Amino acid sequence: MTSKSPVLAAAPCVVGLALLTAARAPAAQDAADPSEPAINGAAIFVQHCKTCHTTQPGQPSYAGPNLAGIVDRKAGSAQYRYSPALRNSGLTWTSENLDAFLAAPKTKVPGTSMFISLTDTAKRQAVVTYLGTLSSEPVPQP
Ligand code: HEC
Repeated sequence: MTSKSPVLAAAPCVVGLALLTAARAPAAQDAADPSEPAINGAAIFVQHCKTCHTTQPGQPSYAGPNLAGIVDRKAGSAQYRYSPALRNSGLTWTSENLDAFLAAPKTKVPGTSMFISLTDTAKRQAVVTYLGTLSSEPVPQP
């Protein structure tokens, strides 16, 4: 055994190439991401709102009221024990009112028990757009 086997000599090279390929794979995926919409209101809702709010007609309210059909709904009108502040706010949830409420709930409705805000304007608008898709009509099952 005097000379190195050519296979062994090549082995580190192959391993190196494999590592390089593995390291590059996630980067290639990242590069594909810009084709996706940058801000997804539904995803933000899942992240920030879903723990407290249901979205389909007929679902029970959780910690917060069911939001099915929320756009153009009268504030405080779902089956839910609202704070007197929200129930008596006299607001209708237009997109503008929702935007202001989500930016600073306790400024828009002093005394509300909803304390989650979305300060990022683009994210907030994406969520308001998503809320507009929540119909109060039952969704037909596929
Ligand atoms: C920690 C629980 C919690 C989270 C998280 C939460 N909310 Fe709420 N939300 C509430 C509560 C409680 C109320 C009722 C407030 C009251 O009665 O004053 C409410 C009320 C609301 C209302 C008024 C509903 C109506 O029927 O008048 C809207 C709209 C709303 N939330 C949207 C959102 C959105 C959008 C998010 C995510 C960005 C969110 N909430 C996150 C607890 C939560």
